[in-house]
Amino acid sequence: MKLTILGGGGFRVPLVYGALLGDRAEGRVTHVVLHDLDSRRLSAVTRVLAEQAAGVPDAPEVSATTDLDEALRGADFVFSAIRVGGLEGRANDERVALAEGVLGQETVGAGGIAYGLRTVPVAVDIARRVARLAPDAWVINFTNPAGLVTEAMSRHLGDRVIGICDSPVGLGRRIARVLGANPAEAWIDYVGLNHLGWVRGLRVAGRDELPRLLADPDLLGSFEEGKLFGVDWLRSLGAIPNEYLHYYYFNREAVRSYQQADKTRGAFLADQQARFYEEMKRPDAAALTAWDRTRAEREATYMSENRETAGAGERDADDLSGGYEKVALALMRAIARDERTTLILNVRNQGTLSVLDEDAVIEVPCLVDANGAHPVAVAPLPDHATGLVCSVKGVEREVLAAAESGSRATAVKAFALHPLVDSVNVARRLVEGYTDVHPGLAYLV
Ligand code: G6P
Ligand code: MN
Repeated sequence: MKLTILGGGGFRVPLVYGALLGDRAEGRVTHVVLHDLDSRRLSAVTRVLAEQAAGVPDAPEVSATTDLDEALRGADFVFSAIRVGGLEGRANDERVALAEGVLGQETVGAGGIAYGLRTVPVAVDIARRVARLAPDAWVINFTNPAGLVTEAMSRHLGDRVIGICDSPVGLGRRIARVLGANPAEAWIDYVGLNHLGWVRGLRVAGRDELPRLLADPDLLGSFEEGKLFGVDWLRSLGAIPNEYLHYYYFNREAVRSYQQADKTRGAFLADQQARFYEEMKRPDAAALTAWDRTRAEREATYMSENRETAGAGERDADDLSGGYEKVALALMRAIARDERTTLILNVRNQGTLSVLDEDAVIEVPCLVDANGAHPVAVAPLPDHATGLVCSVKGVEREVLAAAESGSRATAVKAFALHPLVDSVNVARRLVEGYTDVHPGLAYLV
C-alpha cells in the first residue's frame, strides 16, 4: 500500500508517520512518498522519520521527491497537507486583516478567504493530476481551509476526496470525558461546516446525555469549550460549538487580543519552524528530540489568545495530543480494509442538510467502508446556525468562483459577504492589501 503525502516536508508529517508505525495489521501502508517543493524541508522531515523508525521492524519505507507527478503515480492514498505561501503567508493573512480591524485567522473570516483564494488554484491542479495519474486513489485533504479546499477538489474527484479535521473528534472526546462516558461508545450528534459546527447531543446506550451536561454548571465549566464560551452562553445555545466559533461569538475580543499580541499565531509559528528547520541543517542535530520539543510548544500555545480573552487558563493535558493523525489513519484503514466505522468528515452534503445543495461540502458523521464515506441523516440545525452556515457557504462559493474566473470583483464580493467583514470598503481594501503581499494572488485581475 502506497501513501503519498503532499506537503511532505511539513511539520506535522511525523505525527502521521508515527501513527503508521503503530499499525501492524494486514494491508497497512508499506511505502510513504513525501512530496514537497522544498528539498531542504524534505530532508529535515526524512531525518525525523528515520529516527522514529529506528528499531521498529518492517517500518514503512520512506522516499522523497520534488516531482509531483512522480509522487502521485501508483498511489493508493494521497494525503494533501500543503500550505500555499508558507507560514509567512499565514502571518501576512493575519497582518493585513488586523490592520483593517478584522480577523485574519487562517480558516475563519478575512484570513480564511485570503488563504482560500491562493490555495484553491493549487488544490485544483493537484486534483486534476490525481484524476489523470492515480484515478483509483483516495485523497484525504488536511489542507486548510479544509471544507472549502475539499469542495474545490471534489469538483474534479467527486467523493474520492474526503476532508478531515481533528477538532470535532477532540470536542466529542472532551464532552464524553466530562460525562464519564467512553468516547468509543458515544454517538456524537454534530453537524455544520469545517470549523463551524455544533454538538447538539451525545447519546450513550440510546440516551442523550448532553442535557445532563447543560444542566450542571460545574461540569459545563470544567472543560475547554465551557471555559472558552462560558457556561451561560452554552446554556443559551443548548449546544456545544466547535472551538472556532469563538471567533464569531467573541469576535471583537478575539480581534483586539490578536492586535495586541506580540506576535500573531502565524508569525509565532513562522519563527518557531524557521528555528526547527535551521537546526535540522546541523548534521549532528537530534532530529526527533528537536521536533518533539517544537511540537509540544506548538500544542501548548494553540488558541492561546482566545483562551486569554476568556480567562480560560492553560490547556488540559489530555487535550494536547490533537489526534489529527488518528482520524487520518482510521479513515484510511476503514477504506482499505473495509473496516466499517463512523467518523466526522468533510464530504458532499447529498441532501443531509436540506438548506444546502447536494455538492456543498459539509462536516458531518459518516459511515466509512471500502466504498468511501457516506454522510448519515442528522436533525436540522437551529435557525441561528443555519444562518451562519448558509452565509459562510455562500462566501466559499464566491471564493471558488473567483479562483476559477480570476475575477477581482468576485474576490471583493467574497470578503464583503462574510459575516465578520463589516463593510464593502473594508473588503476592497483587503483585496488591495492581500494582492500586494501575496504573489499567489496575482491571478486576480
Ligand atoms: C486544529 C485545527 C487544524 C489546525 C490545527 C493547528 O487542529 O483543526 O485545522 O491546522 O489546529 O493549529 P496551529 O495554530 O497550531 O497551526
Ligand atoms: Mn481543522
